[in-house]
Amino acid sequence: MTGETSPLDARRAALPSSYRLFYENPVVVDHTEGVWIHDAAGTPLLDVYNNVPVVGHSNAHVAERVSAQLRTANTHTRYVYPAVAEYASRLESLFPAALNKIIFTCSGSEAVDLALQVARFVTGKEGMIATSHAYHGTTAATHAVSPSLSRHFVDDRIALVDVPEEALANGDAGEEFARRVREAIATLEARGVGFAGLIMDQVLTSDGVFTDPVGFMAPVREAVRAAGGVFIADEVQSGFGRTGTHMWGFDRHGIVPDLVILGKPMGNGLPIAALVGTEELLNTYGETFRYFNTFGGNPVCIAAADAVLDEIERLDVLANVVATGTLLREGLSATLAAHGLEATVRGTGLIAGGDLTAARETPAESKALVADIVNGLRDRGVLISSTGPRGTVLKVRPPLIFQSEHVVRLMSALDDTLTHLST
Ligand SMILES: Cc1ncc(COP(=O)(O)O)c(C=O)c1O
Repeated sequence: MTGETSPLDARRAALPSSYRLFYENPVVVDHTEGVWIHDAAGTPLLDVYNNVPVVGHSNAHVAERVSAQLRTANTHTRYVYPAVAEYASRLESLFPAALNKIIFTCSGSEAVDLALQVARFVTGKEGMIATSHAYHGTTAATHAVSPSLSRHFVDDRIALVDVPEEALANGDAGEEFARRVREAIATLEARGVGFAGLIMDQVLTSDGVFTDPVGFMAPVREAVRAAGGVFIADEVQSGFGRTGTHMWGFDRHGIVPDLVILGKPMGNGLPIAALVGTEELLNTYGETFRYFNTFGGNPVCIAAADAVLDEIERLDVLANVVATGTLLREGLSATLAAHGLEATVRGTGLIAGGDLTAARETPAESKALVADIVNGLRDRGVLISSTGPRGTVLKVRPPLIFQSEHVVRLMSALDDTLTHLST
């Protein structure tokens, strides 16, 4: 190897420090297929983490549709491509009737940024509410509602609300959550910035994965409506069938938001995201402001997004998510308990959080345990990650074509990791 630069060194030489890697032993990718990431040494790694390739890594139908469109034409939304409007109406048919307009973007961050602009413009107010460990994106405005990234840009226009973890565990969380939101609205009013809206990940991923009890979002939604604010449902994590019972996380809670953010899974890896909203809100914004996003909604990305919907239907993805998700949560609970760990397994469908906060005496020790499990699994060929305000929650969120045999493989690697950690 003398004289040769390793892929890791080459990366460190070319990219700045803001780029972080997963795992003590980082993964160098060679190729991917289905739920597998094959590394440069030829080892297949089971992907139990990536939520972008919902219909499988390197999906053949997506690849064919994309390459056919790329060979045909690819400009932008200032020319008419019938396929763009056809896809938009196919997607709209999956939403409540009131949500009937779509703006395409390239990333979730751009869609959130636009949603913040819309909320602020239509209300004439500036104040936004987010959860205290939320993640909504990378732009200046979205960073400000992403305290899990940092609180550096959280200014007077932002009020943060703690997720009521205890009330959620006791099943009576909706009213407590709404009370906290009303308090935050009053804080924004008192600061003189007023209340423009609230943004919330519909499975609260970075706050630690909170999905139940079903309906706990409803009182929050009502509190926002009563105060004249815009409710923005961030479906980047929960959308496109992640919860299994529903296509969208908000639907599972029985609410209708004003604006919805779509992202990651929408193009199975192609950069397409969207802001979905009511005609009233998006046209009010549109009458004053032009929106042009060079790559947003280009026909190649639309082909990918359309192919994703084809595959979700063809593979009966939602039914698979319900069945495999149940096995996943049962397996996680049983395996963690078999090793004497005090754990709470939360989640629904194929988003699961294994909370190990109580497994050790201090949050720092629990965080270290979670990191050891994540790295131990990686060394056994299984990729997961961690989440939550204290980094004490195992984050398990595979592609939606995950099958029971993959759950078995995950549990056997987890069992082996925990055995190894306790010796
Ligand atoms: C809930 C949520 N919203 C928004 C985003 C931002 O999306 P993107 O990375 O496509 O800009 C993310 C990305 O992780 C996310 O998880």
